[in-house]
Amino acid sequence: MNLYTISGLCRDYGENDSIVRALKGIDLVIPKGKFTVVLGASGSGKSTLLNMLGCMDSPTSGRIVFEDEDITSYNKKQMTQFRKNTIGFVFQSYNLLPDLNAVENVEFSTEMVGLTRREAIKALELVGLSDRIAHFPAQLSGGEQQRVSIARAIAKRPKVLLCDEPTGALDFQTGIMVLEVLKQIHKEWGTSVLFITHSQEIAKIADIVIRLRSGEIMSVTENSSPLSPREVEW
Ligand SMILES: Nc1ncnc2c1ncn2[C@@H]1O[C@H](COP(=O)(O)OP(=O)(O)O)[C@@H](O)[C@H]1O
Ligand SMILES: [Mg+2]
Repeated sequence: MNLYTISGLCRDYGENDSIVRALKGIDLVIPKGKFTVVLGASGSGKSTLLNMLGCMDSPTSGRIVFEDEDITSYNKKQMTQFRKNTIGFVFQSYNLLPDLNAVENVEFSTEMVGLTRREAIKALELVGLSDRIAHFPAQLSGGEQQRVSIARAIAKRPKVLLCDEPTGALDFQTGIMVLEVLKQIHKEWGTSVLFITHSQEIAKIADIVIRLRSGEIMSVTENSSPLSPREVEW
């Protein structure tokens, strides 16, 4: 079974004269268990696509089947359930709560699906922050804060981790570390990862690269020997 089967996916913004066609009829299959990169210039429709894969937004037309469920037929409540149970999100901004320490920030998400502090700590260990669990966001570097946000996304063990330019605000070295963490989660837990970037270099770490241009798929290529994040040049 595939992870996502996408057919005729369109998303328009605005109306009448000011209409923007962000996605222009996308057909795409995303296999399960892969580290998939969506590569494209700014404005090519990457975030729009990811938002629909994560049930944060609905298409103008077309269909997205997750495993064997048509998630584009979901109502608001089903969309919320799907986001909660199935998807972990990581964005460029960390969106941590300033008054909660690292482990509390992770728990704040895990609580919603009834997980324990132990699970939260385990997630922080996996991202290499076991010695920072009582630190508040203001006491952590950008890279550390992003790793807390990754721990928050994975603590509930989602089937899919959706990452929208998570290294966008980080310097080179820190960005590499974040990529390594994502690769490790993919390897150890078998989580399917979808990673958005505009960087051709970062795309080299992927199993599969989907190229988007102006709301259309340019190519889908499989990478027989993905680079390790340390081999990436920025
Ligand atoms: N909420 C919105 N309202 C109007 N236009 C939007 C909105 N979100 C995105 N767009 C437009 O849709 C296109 C694709 O945007 P986006 O998916 O954010 O691209 P990317 O993530 O690749 O930079 C762009 O032309 C953008 O300006
Ligand atoms: Mg974007």
